[in-house]
Amino acid sequence: MGCDAAVEETTKNGMGPGGLFALLVFVVGALGGIVVSANAYDGIMEFHALLISAFCIAAILWIGNDSMGKREQGYMTKIVRYGVVASMAWGIVGFLVGLVIALQLAFPVLNFDTAFTNFGRLRPLHTSAVIFAFGGTVLLTTSFYVVQKTCQARLWGGNLAWFVFWGYQFFILLAATGYLMGATQSREYAEPEWYVDLWLTIVWVAYLLVFLGTLTKRREPHIYVANWFYLAFIVTIAMLHLGNNMAIPLSVFSSKSVPLFAGVQDALIQWWYGHNAVGFFLTAGFLAIMYYFVPKQADRPVYSYRLSIVHFWSLIFLYIWAGPHHLHYTALPDWSQTLGMVFSVMLWMPSWGGMINGLMTLSGAWDKLRTDPVLRMMVVSVAFYGMSTFEGPLMSIKAVNSLSHYTDWTIGHVHSGALGWVAFVSFGALYCLVVWAFGRKQLYSNRLVEWHFWISTIGIVLYISAMWVSGIMQGLMWRAYDQFGFLTYSFAETVEQMHIYYVIRAGGGFLFTLGALIMAFNIYKTIRGDVREGEEIPDLQTAGGATQPAE
Ligand code: HEM
Ligand code: HEM
Repeated sequence: MGCDAAVEETTKNGMGPGGLFALLVFVVGALGGIVVSANAYDGIMEFHALLISAFCIAAILWIGNDSMGKREQGYMTKIVRYGVVASMAWGIVGFLVGLVIALQLAFPVLNFDTAFTNFGRLRPLHTSAVIFAFGGTVLLTTSFYVVQKTCQARLWGGNLAWFVFWGYQFFILLAATGYLMGATQSREYAEPEWYVDLWLTIVWVAYLLVFLGTLTKRREPHIYVANWFYLAFIVTIAMLHLGNNMAIPLSVFSSKSVPLFAGVQDALIQWWYGHNAVGFFLTAGFLAIMYYFVPKQADRPVYSYRLSIVHFWSLIFLYIWAGPHHLHYTALPDWSQTLGMVFSVMLWMPSWGGMINGLMTLSGAWDKLRTDPVLRMMVVSVAFYGMSTFEGPLMSIKAVNSLSHYTDWTIGHVHSGALGWVAFVSFGALYCLVVWAFGRKQLYSNRLVEWHFWISTIGIVLYISAMWVSGIMQGLMWRAYDQFGFLTYSFAETVEQMHIYYVIRAGGGFLFTLGALIMAFNIYKTIRGDVREGEEIPDLQTAGGATQPAE
């Protein structure tokens, strides 16, 4: 069935009760921000309360303007277009900061002895920029596109989707400026302080409403598999966010808070969150992307619906129990460490179920890998997913973890998943979306995609192989004893040995970032509607208009 023509629903102009309510909330927010800023106990709250005021004032102006102006009819694609640009921009920022901290580890002088550029502040800036700003915006953008297309319904809730988009961007701004000023609640991957967490909760509930509302008014009888994964990601992240961020603020005028849990209970909560952030943010959400974009770009149906059901439910069930593998050999009771290990090893199977389903979707279309670099990028990402989900269960075995824990092996594992899987599948989806959502016939240049693919792949290989060598060397040096039972090496000696690997890693990071810059140029030119001279239209790029079984 045709796409936009099938969406009969159009929006009325003028402000309804929902708009008036939103207006009221933003007026209260703008005034509240000024009051809190004027009475703030610390500089961070003073600045952030003013930022909140500014955001609310911008929202008031936007609502006023939009209620008078015309709105987009049919599917909401403008939000997807904004999302493509924002994702690309955040990606570049996140990779650049990653490159800077990689260089800092190789050449400590680059810390420049100032608080703002210190590794301690830039590291959470990197992790949040790549995971939440880049990855999160890619997930928002693709989910808004996919849910509309596979349900044949416009996004539910009118401008609520725009609130989610801008609200999420504002969350990133609060988090990033907070890190630079030294604000952190010291929980990995959940560093922002209490008021930023509250803001994200509001945005996330709105996101859930938009997604569920769209699913409810779908015109397709069944819910396409990508949407189950998106829904699992949205619901579970809400649950994890609330559980992990339970804290009591010192005062409404202070940026500081005290966590509700302490000691080993706190550690368990943190890694219940941390591991499932991997499972539901960096895995389930990106599997949703795989389930829509790989079949679409390959112009083949999903290999096995049955496999997708089985691996979906087993993945969801098993992931939740695996968190304790981050706390091996700690004060956590031994039985729960073993439980975490056993569930992690079992996780290998459903993870590979997803990988097999993704790869086998290409059955009968393998030849397209030769001609379509975008598809190749996505397929390589699925292969990296398979690799890191084999390595993860291996590392969760206590005997292996006794060597890998605290070493660069973990960093290598993280980045084979993050660069190879998360970033590559995102790049593939963005290349598709820039053509489909901007209504272009083809990308500016497929050759540039080739260059991006090869440069970044070499970058990833350099990064992860350097970390494997450095990590295993580090672990072995730490546990080496002489014949008298003394440690053979001091800690400083192990650091000295790692220097060369840190330089290689930085080289890999440079290549990866260079590839992303090439992509940004390609995206920019595609948005402008340019086509590189001599590049004819490949059939595969126009396949965006073709329909899939779920549409
Ligand atoms: C140019 C690309 C990148 C470079 C050069 C880079 C570099 C780094 C460096 C140097 C660290 C700190 C390692 C340490 O503390 O020893 C780090 C940590 C981290 N990075 Fe990246 N990174 C890049 C891309 C990414 C991407 C795309 C993601 C996710 C999608 C990511 C996720 C992470 C995470 C989760 C950590 C924390 C790891 C841990 O604590 O175990 N990075 N990165
Ligand atoms: C079956 C799947 C997986 C299992 C069982 C698994 C297991 C593990 C284990 C055992 C560690 C080391 C914990 C430690 O010693 O501290 C780890 C760290 C990590 N893994 Fe995985 N992994 C899996 C897949 C992935 C994927 C696909 C990604 C990324 C896309 C990922 C991201 C991470 C991150 C970010 C960390 C570092 C956490 C930290 O210490 O900050 N993992 N994983």
